[in-house]
Amino acid sequence: MAEDTSDFGHVPVLADRCVTLLTPALTRRHPDGSGALLVDATLGAGGHAERFLTALPGLRLIGLDRDPSALDIAASRLAPFGDRVTLIHTRYDGLAEALAESGYPATGSVDGVLFDLGVSSMQLDRRERGFSYAHDAPLDMRMDPTAPQTAADIVNTYDEAALADILRRYGEERFARRIAAEIVRRRRGTPFTSTGQLVEVIYHAIPAPARRTGGHPAKRTFQALRIAVNAELDSLESALPVALNALADGGRVVVLAYQSLEDRIVKRAFADASASRTPTGLPVELPGHAPQFKSLTRGAERADDTEIQRNPRSAAVRLRALEKIRPHTEHDAQAARKGDR
Ligand SMILES: C[S@@+](CC[C@H](N)C(=O)[O-])C[C@H]1O[C@@H](n2cnc3c(N)ncnc32)[C@H](O)[C@@H]1O
Repeated sequence: MAEDTSDFGHVPVLADRCVTLLTPALTRRHPDGSGALLVDATLGAGGHAERFLTALPGLRLIGLDRDPSALDIAASRLAPFGDRVTLIHTRYDGLAEALAESGYPATGSVDGVLFDLGVSSMQLDRRERGFSYAHDAPLDMRMDPTAPQTAADIVNTYDEAALADILRRYGEERFARRIAAEIVRRRRGTPFTSTGQLVEVIYHAIPAPARRTGGHPAKRTFQALRIAVNAELDSLESALPVALNALADGGRVVVLAYQSLEDRIVKRAFADASASRTPTGLPVELPGHAPQFKSLTRGAERADDTEIQRNPRSAAVRLRALEKIRPHTEHDAQAARKGDR
């Protein structure tokens, strides 16, 4: 079947910044990226991947995505790069297995990793996937259509307390209990099958004055269900240590997060990875206790106005990046006073 290639127009977020941050790690052996491996953990339509493969003609790339249709689109887009590209259908917490499948060890074999989290504009635009509250469609929201559980399964079967918990935790929804109660009341009559039915129930569950503030009334519930259906936070929490472990010395990782729950997970994992294990109060790092990673960003970087105008999706982005520190020689270790880095 011919692939729809119209999604190639999708503009990758902060692509120049990602290239600037990862290039030093990808060109350590050769200025054209020869001998280096980049893992794009969220390949999507392949926008970022294409930028890297074009900029560095020797680079090899392994692209992961849990959505087979994203892989199909990226495969067409990246076909000109031939065997420099390997695409694998997996969740990104399967990164170690994906590396093994491609002949790379799970530890110390990767020079760069990129995570561009969340749903793609392609997934949002395909109404039949059920991600958007703006269109009536089957209540699905699976990033991987072969996964067993849809959003309809959750709203039709979870008890009221579990539904409220999902809406509160993953959607930070103030009216979680009211919405959950209304969902349970309505489904007694007719089970939910469409996004439109759910939007209507949310609308009625939220008090009229609150409907006029904070964006579309269904926005937070849809975010919450999408996170639950796809176990997005669990997947990210498991994937980050695997990605850090996969990096070679001098390797770098960049993460683009679009909502605070994901960014919090990234912030915590990165702070932990770049922390010293030497007891406080000692003037030098104890051998084996120095930080293994250093941050390449001050807090989270945001897109500037020019980027946001060109690419509205970048308005919410928070970018964080780390580098795996090369092990120090004995001499360096003595000289490295704590906090110098
Ligand atoms: C924002 S898009 C990436 C867009 C891409 N950087 C580009 O330039 O075209 C995010 C992609 O990550 C995928 N994704 C989200 N969560 C994932 C997970 N846990 N494992 C693997 N892929 C995931 C989605 O299916 C989607 O295709």
